[in-house]
Amino acid sequence: MTTLGTPLSPCATRVMLLGSGELGKEVLIALQRLGVETIAVDRYENAPGQQVAHHARTITMSDPAQLKALIEAEKPQLVVPEIEAIATPMLQQLEDAGVVRVIPTARAARLTMDREGIRRLAAETLGVPTSPYRFCDSLAELQAAIDGANGEAIGYPCVVKPVMSSSGKGQSKIDGPADVQKAWDYAMAGGRVSHGRVIVEGFIDFDYEITLLTVRALDGTGAVQTQFCEPIGHLQVSGDYVESWQPHPMAPAALQKAQQIAQAVTADLGGQGLFGVELFVKGDQVWFSEVSPRPHDTGMVTMATQWQNEFELHARAILGLPVDTTLKSPGASAVVYGGVDATGIVFDGVAEALAVPGVDLRLFGKPESFTKRRMGVALAHAVDIDTARRNAKEAASRVKPREA
Ligand SMILES: Nc1ncnc2c1ncn2[C@@H]1O[C@H](COP(=O)(O)OP(=O)(O)O)[C@@H](O)[C@H]1O
Ligand SMILES: [Mg+2]
Repeated sequence: MTTLGTPLSPCATRVMLLGSGELGKEVLIALQRLGVETIAVDRYENAPGQQVAHHARTITMSDPAQLKALIEAEKPQLVVPEIEAIATPMLQQLEDAGVVRVIPTARAARLTMDREGIRRLAAETLGVPTSPYRFCDSLAELQAAIDGANGEAIGYPCVVKPVMSSSGKGQSKIDGPADVQKAWDYAMAGGRVSHGRVIVEGFIDFDYEITLLTVRALDGTGAVQTQFCEPIGHLQVSGDYVESWQPHPMAPAALQKAQQIAQAVTADLGGQGLFGVELFVKGDQVWFSEVSPRPHDTGMVTMATQWQNEFELHARAILGLPVDTTLKSPGASAVVYGGVDATGIVFDGVAEALAVPGVDLRLFGKPESFTKRRMGVALAHAVDIDTARRNAKEAASRVKPREA
């Protein structure tokens, strides 16, 4: 039985979000609706989630001492990582010591914070199909991996990514020998921490890619049950999501394989919560790419398409409550970029955007805008995904951010 408390009272159910961007903000709103007391943590002040939480704290989350001190001071029952750049070994220590429960588990947060942990688990331990890959610590090793100097050749084309990076940062495609040096230099400049390790992956010429939102939540008997949302199709530009839609049509055999892979990976990571499993599909072939043990940016579309969006599913699952993953309507999302480098920007065209049929809008409230920073998202529901995509893109294009 799950018992929830009253916020700001001695019996409060306290949940701490580590990372309070646009995804954390929606998780916090879902928790607020259940009367959970929320603590929003980020590395800068007035982060989107901090604007809707009971408490806002600003620390360097990759610093183990700061993280430990904050968790011991705030004493949340649950710690919910929203980003990857966290001192996960410290989370593991605190979980092992019984100080706090980490969502979904401290081990899942640690394994998914860099590309090596999760890739080796999926491909080498679980035997799930992935692109061919190799880890390299120097330009020479990268070239050797591509050429097959010590093992099977990755060959061309291939993709190079820093092991610690997200949203396509430092990632590039190599089409031939002339691109190798450039890709290495780009990866070195774009990684989250400069420890110089990359993954090189054989390029998968997929028909389409999906995010399969997978929820591990308790059923009526207290056992963990795995449930899937309808597949989400998406479009990535330079490794960053610009558009997503749901449901993406899939051949039954491909969908079955996708669900089997998602089931295997999330079962191993364990715990309770929602996962975004990224998969490449070509015909009936499915490759595992990566997984977020938390809501996924492409899953923002579920705010227009599901009875319980991915943030509500996560909030319910982590609290031990039952979930419903059913689709309400086909829909789509389209990203609104900052377009300018400035603080405290304004948005023109909001009314025009909302005049598009079936459209809704989220403006995240980020204090600082960058040209390529995601500042909002347009959502659309419609009779089919083509109409929804068209309307979401139209609405996003009508929003005009500018300097105040
Ligand atoms: N091996 C690959 N073959 C083809 N496309 C790839 C490959 N790896 C990545 N991509 C493309 O780049 C996008 C971002 O890569 P991903 O590994 O998901 O990085 P991130 O962690 O930054 O999201 C993918 O969604 C896909 O579109
Ligand atoms: Mg990705």
